[in-house]
Amino acid sequence: MDIVVSGIRSTGNLHLGNYFGAIKNFLKMQKENNCYFFIADYHALTTHPKPDDLHGNIKQVLAEYLACGIDPEISTVFIQSDVPEVSELYLLLNMNAYLGELERTTSFKDKIRKQPDNINAGLLTYPVLMAADIIIHKANKVPVGKDQEQHLEMTRRFARRFNAMYEVDFFPEPDAYNFGEQLVKIPGLDGTGKMGKSEGNGIFLSDTPAEIRKKVMRAVTDAGPTTPGQEPSEPIKNLFTIMSVVSEKDTVNYFTDKYASCEIRYGDLKKQLAEDIIKFTEPIRVKIDDIKADNRYLAKIVSQGAEQARESASKTLREVRKIIGYKSF
Ligand code: TRP
Repeated sequence: MDIVVSGIRSTGNLHLGNYFGAIKNFLKMQKENNCYFFIADYHALTTHPKPDDLHGNIKQVLAEYLACGIDPEISTVFIQSDVPEVSELYLLLNMNAYLGELERTTSFKDKIRKQPDNINAGLLTYPVLMAADIIIHKANKVPVGKDQEQHLEMTRRFARRFNAMYEVDFFPEPDAYNFGEQLVKIPGLDGTGKMGKSEGNGIFLSDTPAEIRKKVMRAVTDAGPTTPGQEPSEPIKNLFTIMSVVSEKDTVNYFTDKYASCEIRYGDLKKQLAEDIIKFTEPIRVKIDDIKADNRYLAKIVSQGAEQARESASKTLREVRKIIGYKSF
C-alpha cells in the first residue's frame, strides 16, 4: 500500500472549500492507502496564536476532521506536536536547506509582504518542517492543493539531497496525489477568488442553518442576464460552482436553464442554494458538536494516533541518525 501524508493547519474552522478541495479526497484515499492525517499545530505557531486559543483551535479542527468521516480506525490521525521525532528530523534537514532557496519560496515572499512585522525564522523554514512531516513516514503520495505544490517540490528536493549527500536510497520522493477532475476549487461568496478562512467569504462546516442562509442571501450577484445564452459573470458562475457540489443535478439544470433564458431570479437561486448547503453541512455540524463534547473519545483518538505516528517516525529517525553517522557509545 502507498503511504499518504497530509496536514491541515489548526487555524480557523474548516469551510466548504476545505471539504471539496481536500477532505473529500482524503475519505477516498483512506480506503486505498496507508494514510497519516495530522493537525499541523507547529506550523500554526508562525502566526503567534494566543496560548488560550491554541488548544481550542486544535480540538476544533480535529473534531471537524472526524465529523467529516476521517476514520481513525483506518487512518493514523494525530497532532503534529505529539510527535517530537518530527522536530528532530526538521533540525537535521535544516542543515541541508539553503538560505537562498528558502528565501525564494513564494509563500515566504508573500508573508514578507503581508506581515512585515513578523517575518520569523519559522516562516523561512516552513517548507523544511513540512518536508519533515512528509518524509518521516517515507510517504510516496501527498494530497496538496495548488498553493502547496512548491512546498512539495522542495520536499522532493530535500529528500533527493539527503539521499545524494549520504549516498543512500533512503527517502522516497513523494508525488502530489489527487483524483484529477474531482478537485473542485470552491469560490467564495464575495464575487471573486476562492473560499478562504480569513477572507470572510466562506461557509464553515460548523455554521448554523441561520448563519448559512444569511451568508448566501448576502452573496454578491449582478444585475441579471439580458441576452439569452450569455456567459454568466464571475459572481454568478461562483454560485453555480457551489451549487454543482451540493445540489442535485436537476436543480443545477433548472437554474442553468432559467439563466440561459434570462428568467432567473437570483433570490430563488440563493434560497435553494442555502437549503442545499444546509442539507450537506447540518449533519456534519451536529457531529462536530457531539465529538467536541466527548473529551474521553478525543483523548483516546489522539493518544492512539500519536502512538502509531511515533512508531513510524521513530523508526525512520533511528535510521537517519545512523546514516548521518551517529553511533552509541
Ligand atoms: N502547509 C500545509 C498547508 O498550509 C499544511 C501542511 C503541513 C502539510 N505539513 C504538511 C500538508 C505535510 C501536507 C503534508 O496547507
